[in-house]
Amino acid sequence: MSDLPLVLGIETSCDETGVGVVRGQTLLADAVASSVEEHARFGGVVPEVASRAHLEAMVATIERACAEARVRLADIDAVAVTSGPGLAGALLVGVAAAKALALALGRPLYGVNHLAAHVAVDQLEHGPLPQPCLAMLVSGGHSSLLLVSDVTGADEGVRPLGATIDDAAGEAFDKVARVLGLPFPGGPHIDRVSREGDPAYVGFPRGLTGARDLLEHRYDFSFSGLKTAVARWVETRERAGEPVPVAHVAAAFQEAVVDVLTRKAVLACTENGVDHLLIGGGVAANSRLRAVAAERCAAAGIRLRVPRPGLCTDNGAMVAALGAELVARGVAPSPLDLPADSSMPVTDVVAR
Ligand code: KG4
Ligand code: ZN
Repeated sequence: MSDLPLVLGIETSCDETGVGVVRGQTLLADAVASSVEEHARFGGVVPEVASRAHLEAMVATIERACAEARVRLADIDAVAVTSGPGLAGALLVGVAAAKALALALGRPLYGVNHLAAHVAVDQLEHGPLPQPCLAMLVSGGHSSLLLVSDVTGADEGVRPLGATIDDAAGEAFDKVARVLGLPFPGGPHIDRVSREGDPAYVGFPRGLTGARDLLEHRYDFSFSGLKTAVARWVETRERAGEPVPVAHVAAAFQEAVVDVLTRKAVLACTENGVDHLLIGGGVAANSRLRAVAAERCAAAGIRLRVPRPGLCTDNGAMVAALGAELVARGVAPSPLDLPADSSMPVTDVVAR
């Protein structure tokens, strides 16, 4: 047990300051400090506010993670950090902290890709990743379908099949929630109120699912038309002086998102001969997405893996998990001058 690497992971790509500690693929600690409440009144994450919050939370969160894991910093074998993609200023805080730690401790530093970390985290809960697997990552900042044959990135191991061409899935949840007068971040509120609503109340558009779209954008997503359709529908009601049935509209919107996500994920699995689907990112916490994905995967003979909600949203454990995998596989660490790369391509798993 003790010969497995002890890895500390730092995540600061958006509004969560996450510090996780793993030994091999065993989770020892996952400390998260979120600045989400500071952004609520702006209806979205404000990059400068997020950066400052990371700076203020960083040292305390590292200390909390070490205490929770019952380890000393000197015991850490390697440091991993999200190098990108994400908000530039926010990433910079995590990268600077990780460099300082690695340098002071004399340990290797791995700058890793945030999306690959969302995939790797599932190993902490469900054991070794079946590879290849298809990963659908849906959050406030990204919506992508990835074909993962090696999460460390070796031999083009992470291949993007599709992504959103406009809004991310979580962004659509947040914007529609705003239209419906629900607080930020809107996803959990839409999820909650939808339980009392009729998903068939309005037939909202399913972006990029028409025959022609499927030729050009087979595995891509588009949610901005859906968001506009909901806003128009609500506006028309309000202008007519009629009440807006919030639960029904929320349920119908959620159904449109979930329908497209699960349809395309299953299509990508079957067409690529992959029989494991992994869903990650904040939107993977959505109860309707989990239920429909389970149903459709079962019908198509696909095994579904979804980490528990706390590991789906941004956290440091996912970065530590990927770091531990890289160490175990003997992958060379990043240079100490590694960049914070806000648009790091998903094919680059380790920053060079
Ligand atoms: O992964 P995450 O914590 O941060 C990034 O954006 O990277 O994801 C946050 C997003 C927000 O847009 C939030 O509204 C959405 O995930 N979300 C949900 C649910 N819980 C969080 N969306 C739908 N249903 C949920 N239950
Ligand atoms: Zn994320």
